[in-house]
Amino acid sequence: MDTPDKPILRTLAGESVWPPPMWLMRQAGRYLPEYREVRAQAGDFIALCTNPELAAEVTLQPLRRYGFDAAILFSDILMVPWAMGQPLRFAEGEGPLLEPVRDAASIGALRVTGVAERAAPIFETVARVRALLDVQHQRSALIGFAGSPWTVACYMVEGRGGGEFAQARRLAYSDPALFGRLIRSLTDATAEYLLGQVEAGAEVLMLFDSWAGLLPPAQFRRWVIEPTAELVRRLRKRLPAGFPIIGFPRLAGPLLVEYAQRTGVQAVGLDTAMDPRWAAANLPPNLALQGNLDPQALVSGGPALEAEARALLAALRGRPFIFNLGHGIVPPTPPEHVAALVRLVRTG
Ligand code: CP3
Repeated sequence: MDTPDKPILRTLAGESVWPPPMWLMRQAGRYLPEYREVRAQAGDFIALCTNPELAAEVTLQPLRRYGFDAAILFSDILMVPWAMGQPLRFAEGEGPLLEPVRDAASIGALRVTGVAERAAPIFETVARVRALLDVQHQRSALIGFAGSPWTVACYMVEGRGGGEFAQARRLAYSDPALFGRLIRSLTDATAEYLLGQVEAGAEVLMLFDSWAGLLPPAQFRRWVIEPTAELVRRLRKRLPAGFPIIGFPRLAGPLLVEYAQRTGVQAVGLDTAMDPRWAAANLPPNLALQGNLDPQALVSGGPALEAEARALLAALRGRPFIFNLGHGIVPPTPPEHVAALVRLVRTG
């Protein structure tokens, strides 16, 4: 059962809870020795994501250490293309590698039906984590997630990360009909994938659009805002009224205002470059803001971390606000710096 007094759910419903609830993007990961241990045991990264017992364990590791207000499902945005049948592997030191889809044949061969069946082990992870939260961390909520169609399409077309997704951006201009077909398939598959997570016990959904900021305004509206709005409409048809959805169009800049208006999300993630005072002044007062401490400040620690965290708290005091980073934790982060940050935020 949902516990209505979970701080992050109250915040997402538009209330200003203080001290603010907090969690950190990539809170389960290589900066934690206990993660590295399980990761070594699992073999490769996809094996970890599809092993419900181990994936549930690493999802909960950061909550045990830090008592965060949310657990985020341990998986990856690229598990949707994987479930659509696109060959994927994570090469050590290289990040994700996919067999690129750039023509009608490869895009047409992607499977949309059956995604929920292939993602069954991930839904099983969600169910296990939720059952454990209900017993061990009753004030923490479970966040399910997916990549937004644009960002996932970037990886699918390019076949890899690490650059500026030139192939994906060119395909969106040169053959918008074909690129639109890929975006529609992804929207369909992602809706099924997210609804499966909610059915299994996710209490919040987050849409990661890490590469939204690569696009100029007209392209941003067409490939970021419209597909996200369509995805949210699709979800809302089948979710309880007001089900909390967080959108994170990274590096959107001032287009964040239009994104928030037109997608109908309850909260937006602020990236590291966004001025929180600008966001507070330009976004509706009941929209929850999440972010946006620089992950590198967390690596540095000390007085610089303290000053940045205090400035962020001061900028967003009085708003519905979820303390987080502006992008994911990086592997060199000392776990004791995270502990120091938690103490600081908890004392408001
Ligand atoms: O703790 C959490 O936040 C939940 C798990 C999570 C992962 N990836 C685990 C992961 C989440 C929410 C993601 C999202 C994700 N994955 C994004 C969007 C957010 C962002 O960072 O911009 C993107 C773009 C990806 C794609 C991806 N996955 C890349 C580019 C890489 C390689 C980079 C890296 O850090 O190695 C991954 C791998 C990945 N996903 C790892 C983890 C913990 C590291 C893999 C490992 O343990 O070997």
